Formats: sequence, structure tokens, C-alpha cells
Amino acid sequence: FADNNGDRIFTNNCSSCHLGGGNILIANKTLHKEALSQYLDNYNTESIQAIIHQIKNGKGAMPAFKNKLNEEEILEVAAYVFQKAEQGW
Ligand code: HEM
Repeated sequence: FADNNGDRIFTNNCSSCHLGGGNILIANKTLHKEALSQYLDNYNTESIQAIIHQIKNGKGAMPAFKNKLNEEEILEVAAYVFQKAEQGW
């Protein structure tokens, strides 16, 4: 995936709460690999699919994006989050 597309989608839709892979609402539920492994359901077995599920459906104070982003955009931003988590943001 082109990194800049995921980067743009993240900046426009996610960075208000997740700037730099953080979480301004629930401080420990970041987008860093350790937090994803600990708090995101099925991250350790499904990784990108688990991120896609969270983006589509939201959770708690995080809004759902399934009616705001299309399938391709969701896949691109999920792949971006996965890659950044692997790289340590
Ligand atoms: C959690 C991704 C937009 C607020 C998460 C998690 C992911 C994620 C992967 C799980 C993190 C973990 O459990 O450690 C994204 C992406 C977004 C986005 C890719 C854009 C498409 C937002 C926005 C907000 C937000 C705009 C604030 C209005 C939260 C909150 C949680 C969370 C509060 C914790 C949910 C809970 O477990 O109670 N996000 N997010 N997110 N996000 Fe987002």
C-alpha cells in the first residue's frame, strides 16, 4: 500500500484522538504494538483484521467509521496503523 494514502486518511480521521499513535481519551489504549497486543481483541491472531474491526465498529468513546470511510480507505488506514505499530511510531 502507498504509505501516503494511509497517512492522509489517518491524519484526517484519527489523529485528533491518536496523534503520534497515542490516545488522548484513554491514555493506555494507544496504537503502539504492546497496547494493541494487550487491549485490542484478536490483535495477536488477526492483526490487520482486528484493527479493521475496531475502525468499522468503533468501541466505547471511539466512533464507528464504516459509514464514513469506504472499504479501501479502511484497509489502507488499518495497514498504516499496523505498519506504524511494527515500526514503533
Ligand atoms: C481505540 C484506531 C479514530 C478514540 C483504538 C484502537 C485502534 C484505533 C486500533 C485500539 C487501541 C487499543 O486498544 O490499544 C483508530 C483509527 C481511527 C481512530 C485507525 C481513525 C480511522 C478515533 C477517534 C477517536 C478515537 C477519532 C476519538 C473521538 C479511541 C478510544 C479508544 C480507541 C477512546 C479506546 C476504546 C476502548 O477500548 O474503550 N482506536 N481510531 N479513535 N480509539 Fe481509535
